[in-house]
Amino acid sequence: MPKELHTCLLSILCFALWAFPCDSYNVVHFGAKPNGRSDSSLSFLRTWMAACNSVRPSTVYVPRGTYLLRPVTFSGSCKNRVTFQIEGTLVAPYDYWSMGNSGYWILFKEVSRVSILGGKIDGRGAGFWGCRRKGGNCPVGARSISFMWCKDIYVRGLTSINSQTIHMAIGQSKNMRIEYTTIRAPSRSPNTDGIHVQHSSDISIRRSIIKTGDDCVSIGPGTTNMWVERIGCGPGHGISIGSLGNGIREKGVQNVTVTSSVFTKTDNGVRIKSWARPSSGYATDIHFRNLVMLNVINPIIIDQTYCPNYQCPHQSSGVKISRVTYTNIRGSSSRPEAITLDCSPTNPCTGIKLHNIRLSTPNRATRAVCFNAGGYTRGLVIPRSCLRT
Ligand SMILES: *[C@@H]1O[C@H](CO)[C@@H](O)[C@H](O)[C@H]1NC(C)=O
Repeated sequence: MPKELHTCLLSILCFALWAFPCDSYNVVHFGAKPNGRSDSSLSFLRTWMAACNSVRPSTVYVPRGTYLLRPVTFSGSCKNRVTFQIEGTLVAPYDYWSMGNSGYWILFKEVSRVSILGGKIDGRGAGFWGCRRKGGNCPVGARSISFMWCKDIYVRGLTSINSQTIHMAIGQSKNMRIEYTTIRAPSRSPNTDGIHVQHSSDISIRRSIIKTGDDCVSIGPGTTNMWVERIGCGPGHGISIGSLGNGIREKGVQNVTVTSSVFTKTDNGVRIKSWARPSSGYATDIHFRNLVMLNVINPIIIDQTYCPNYQCPHQSSGVKISRVTYTNIRGSSSRPEAITLDCSPTNPCTGIKLHNIRLSTPNRATRAVCFNAGGYTRGLVIPRSCLRT
């Protein structure tokens, strides 16, 4: 709390009081054009460089208007804290080929103590999705906003729509707090995950609304100490840990909490997914609690059989899943199998706990399906548990 308060006060003071030791740099003064047509990438980069070189805390100010940006990378060891205060909308070019093949649109790389307050980013992904659907010759596609090798980042009130691929990607980063974000893409847009995190620690995502064509939040290998709270998810594929265990040597996922969230008509509620092939990966200390499912296809699912295109014949997942708790999960499933725990025959799930679960369908009884899953229950559990005790 003190950190966000600090950031917030700082930015208010920045505008209110010139005497306060903090500098504001307006992108328009650096040549950015709020007309939606002129390429403002260089102006944004110049503004960033000025702010980044400021010895006092500084602000990159983006006034109202629409700014066209090509792929941009904000990097460098800044001399002090930098805050993006965004009142405008940043848009990608319509021509998806002009986004290049790096996979990034707006990239923060190796920066620390950066805040992003407000703003809307529009990846204009429709053309790219169309190319993907036709199976034509398409570029790799760009994630809208990414943080790679970053530290101490605060994002508040950002809206991201129609990303070509992942809306927000976090990799190799530490200590990020994301809140009040809105993410929106059509339910049938391919691979438009909301927020994807991997090889990162101490990441929190709170109070956000995510409606998209893939996972609302996806948590990849090497993620530790992650907190996800008050997410409205759907449409989308739910909140997923995985896919894990694609690589033979892979870091595990440890200490993840997903709490106080609502899933509306999603494919999954909370899912742990791994490839059916050897791997050193694992998932442990995972807590799902206080969740509401509204007409969800797989409200609770562990699936260790993932293997598209028969890439892993007669193999089983090396990913060990342990100490996963499901507490206070209620609502409706659109299929009778409200709980599916399909674990690896060679690495059975252990320490699964089901506590106060009530999942129903409108007119049929729900059931739980288990393979190689061990654990215990507490309180009321509907459907009846199938865990080996
Ligand atoms: C687990 O992660 C949370 C943050 O999500 C952190 O507050 C807590 O200290 C972590 N627990 C352990 C045992 O590291």
